[in-house]
Amino acid sequence: MRVVIQENYEKMCKWAADYIAAKINAHPGDRPFVLGLPTGSSPIGVYKELVRMNKAGEVSFANVVTFNMDEYLGLPREHDQSYWYFMHDNLFDHLVDMKPENINILNGMTDDPEAECAAYEAKIASYGGIDLFMGGIGVDGHLAFNEPFTSLSSRTGVRALTTDTRIVNSRFFGNDPEKVPAYALSVGIGTVTDSREVLVLINGHNKARALAATVQGGVSQQWTCSALQLHPAAIIACDEAACGELTVDAYRYFLDIEKEERL
Ligand code: GLP
Repeated sequence: MRVVIQENYEKMCKWAADYIAAKINAHPGDRPFVLGLPTGSSPIGVYKELVRMNKAGEVSFANVVTFNMDEYLGLPREHDQSYWYFMHDNLFDHLVDMKPENINILNGMTDDPEAECAAYEAKIASYGGIDLFMGGIGVDGHLAFNEPFTSLSSRTGVRALTTDTRIVNSRFFGNDPEKVPAYALSVGIGTVTDSREVLVLINGHNKARALAATVQGGVSQQWTCSALQLHPAAIIACDEAACGELTVDAYRYFLDIEKEERL
């Protein structure tokens, strides 16, 4: 696993946006570039930079198909906390050449969640899988909404949110955890690790424990993000603040080995 440590959040986002744009630009045009995307506060700076690059003509989304990681169950698209709303507000509405028909987000209002999730997996497969899945993680290491003790080979399905996650996410719901939906639809850990590449953003002091568990703990369903240790092409992009629980030797190793990536 690669761990690219940048000095701060802005540089982490710039590095990640440059990495994604370079992958899109290098992709042969004979089939779409399939990009997995997260929500949350972590990717906002990456989306801002991708929008800037797109408007400046530095990267085109005309041949990009996207699949989002997750969506709250029971929130309509128009709800300002739905992930559909978030993605349009922070990314899709600002891209000059993103085709709406190329955007895939699980439908949180489905009356048949299992069929919705099976169709999502089938659609990903119909494109030949995901080229690059960008993700973020929760403070408990959850990747998408795969909370601790979700199977590391899980596929897209319904997930119960833990009380901890509802408390953390209540900052977007008037600080009332009861207003945070109790369930979500989410890609599985297996769905993410089937992607050709995975890039996970980890920033801030509050993610330090999760970063250490992801990189230096054993592979364990308690920290679902640790499944990335078995992926042949997984990258963590992080900031200094998130490194506080890494051992000094690990921190120095990654700084050394990735010194050319430091912005
Ligand atoms: C939510 C999402 C995750 C996201 C996580 C972290 O729980 N389901 O996909 O990675 O929050 O969010 P943030 O980046 O705001 O810390």
